[in-house]
Amino acid sequence: MNLVLLGPPGAGKGTQAKRLQDLRSLVQLSTGDMLRAAVAAGTELGRKAGDIMERGELVPDALVVGLIAESMDAEKDSAGFILDGFPRTIGQAEALDALLRSRGEQVDRVVVIEVDDDALVTRITGRFTCATCGEGYHELFKKPKVEGVCDVCGGTKFARRKDDTEDVVRERLKAYHAQTEPLIGYYKAQGKVRAVDGMADIETVQKEIDQALDGA
Ligand code: AP5
Ligand code: MG
Ligand code: ZN
Repeated sequence: MNLVLLGPPGAGKGTQAKRLQDLRSLVQLSTGDMLRAAVAAGTELGRKAGDIMERGELVPDALVVGLIAESMDAEKDSAGFILDGFPRTIGQAEALDALLRSRGEQVDRVVVIEVDDDALVTRITGRFTCATCGEGYHELFKKPKVEGVCDVCGGTKFARRKDDTEDVVRERLKAYHAQTEPLIGYYKAQGKVRAVDGMADIETVQKEIDQALDGA
């Protein structure tokens, strides 16, 4: 099963991908996480992508397609992928089709997580992650059980993303509406799209996604 999670910045793609990864033994592939790792490592790719990401624009298709191709090669035996934040353009969707075809596979399901633009700004500006294990938190919606201590690893250092300011979020939303939303039509034409209400709480969204995956 190969699943694409589509949705605007802050919709909960990463949150839900992590849960699905544990529940269904699928491998999460997040181009955003891969790009941030490249920026942190100071690789050539990271230098090319860093400024673009800070402006909230999309990095060129060739760069992210290359990252996905490499990760899929490294995961030859996986039961399937959860694509989180990829594809984001029609060109990327076509490249993904070709990559999966070469494995004898396809995109099986596309779940669109729908959230209002205003709620997204609150979600993103309140978000932080554990600097040690990467667990995601939110100032209002998902605080660590003990303040200042990661639930998962006990770490006490937390990080925020550079592109999580209100101004950059607005740019990321523009990029989503202009370049990524057309993918919904691309996949609808193939009968693969299921929409879930991403305004509900995290558990409820997870249940809805589960139903979307198991239903016809
Ligand atoms: P990327 O890292 O993919 O960011 P994004 O799409 O903007 O999405 P986010 O990661 O911000 O949000 P999310 O949907 O994962 O939400 P989350 O689960 O964290 O991309 C970053 C940049 O990299 C792009 O701008 C671009 O420059 C570049 N890039 C990446 N991929 C690319 C590609 N394919 N092509 C070109 N460029 C690419 O949740 C958000 C917060 O809300 C969290 O705090 C969470 O705890 C909370 N939350 C989640 N669900 C709920 C809920 N149901 N109720 C309340 N709170 C919730
Ligand atoms: Mg994410
Ligand atoms: Zn942690």
